[in-house]
Amino acid sequence: MSTLKAVRGTRDLLPPETALWNRIETTARQVFARYNFGEIRTPIFEDTSLFARSVGEETDIVSKEMYTWEDRARAQSEKPQSLTLRPENTAGVVRAYIEHKLGETGQLQKLFYIGPQFRRERPQKGRYRQFWQIGAEAIGPPSAGSESPLRDAEILEMLATFLDELGIAGWTLELNSVGSAADRARYNDTLRAALVPLAPQMCVDCQRRAVTNPLRVLDCKVPEDQPIIETLPKIGDSLGQESIDHFAAVTAALQAAGVPYHLNPRLVRGLDYYTRTTFEFTHGGLGAQNALLGGGRYDGLSESIGGPKAPGIGFAMGLDRLVLTLQAKEADQSSAPPQGAKADAYIAPLGESLNAPALTLARELRRAGFRIELGDGSFRLKKSFEAADKTARHIVILGEDELQSGILTVKDFASGLQTKVPRAELPSMLAKPMAQ
Ligand code: HAM
Repeated sequence: MSTLKAVRGTRDLLPPETALWNRIETTARQVFARYNFGEIRTPIFEDTSLFARSVGEETDIVSKEMYTWEDRARAQSEKPQSLTLRPENTAGVVRAYIEHKLGETGQLQKLFYIGPQFRRERPQKGRYRQFWQIGAEAIGPPSAGSESPLRDAEILEMLATFLDELGIAGWTLELNSVGSAADRARYNDTLRAALVPLAPQMCVDCQRRAVTNPLRVLDCKVPEDQPIIETLPKIGDSLGQESIDHFAAVTAALQAAGVPYHLNPRLVRGLDYYTRTTFEFTHGGLGAQNALLGGGRYDGLSESIGGPKAPGIGFAMGLDRLVLTLQAKEADQSSAPPQGAKADAYIAPLGESLNAPALTLARELRRAGFRIELGDGSFRLKKSFEAADKTARHIVILGEDELQSGILTVKDFASGLQTKVPRAELPSMLAKPMAQ
């Protein structure tokens, strides 16, 4: 029988690597809390039309990469519902904002999320079919200040702080403005006109997009099309005065806060809902998939899925890519290997009749906050020592004598010292720093 494996583009995350994932998530939670963000959890799958209407029919994500199926679990009289595993989380958050009438609070909603997303992309380093995002959205009625350029600058400053606290150095913030909906419509017309003579020399997808959604021509990855794309008009030349002023206020606030950025007039992002500020943080160590995170403003998204006016801005970071970046950094620093996650003690019961007392001792120590590995009374002493040395800093021997007398035999593997310790003193003995 053939052995089953994780599906292409998905993977198992095992300890000790998962400790790094947790560290990143914990840092994100701590940093976001300081900016007054609260957590939102939305379903893993949604009605397909949510993504078609927000991310956009012509985007690569919606046209090629979604895991979609017809759900037949409803009453026979009803039509099957088309459902999709979420390829991103912004659409779900805005749907929830509308569904729960969060706009009626009159407050800016600052929401963050951590969870898996699904895209049928060609897997490679840093690109998976199930990947994890940590993201956040600040959305609300205009009266709550949701359109203010200060929001954009605050989010970007928060990201810079997060990456710095995580210890990721050498990132670049790429920044652009794609203008208001009206500016984008104007740019689309300009592009459409510019593409009339050029599209016939381009790939089939671009020939179609040149008519349906010219902006998406800029996402084309076909190498032969790139020199043509280079000659196309830039979005910055189509911006109206309001968009120019908004962007100038964002960059001024970033300069004042000391967050470095790099203007990239080609950064239009691969999702249709963006307006005005767009950005990506890239990192050289990641290779081809160099975007650590991406985001931007989406002032018309709520209306496009049937909601009230609710401008917003947000981002999502690839957790898989943050992990790769930190792993590369840790591999570079060839100092002492990390201590790993060794238990404080390994309790070795000397015989099956001591298993239950050993469990009791382990329970006491664990409740006191120690990390305890529990052996099995069917092991010989030598085997217990070998197992303990691999997983713990100490071994605690629990034989009949120890149980009766309450004096335990403890060996500290770092110093090699073996001592007799009264049971009541065990916690303070284990809490001592490791011998050098
Ligand atoms: P996105 O640029 O499609 O934006 O994805 C954000 C980040 O998710 C990327 O920069 C990358 O780090 C990670 N990512 C995307 N696809 C993959 C993949 N196949 N494998 C591994 N990592 C991946 C969004 O998703 C928007 N919802 C961001 C946003 C939030 N905009 C406004 N609010």
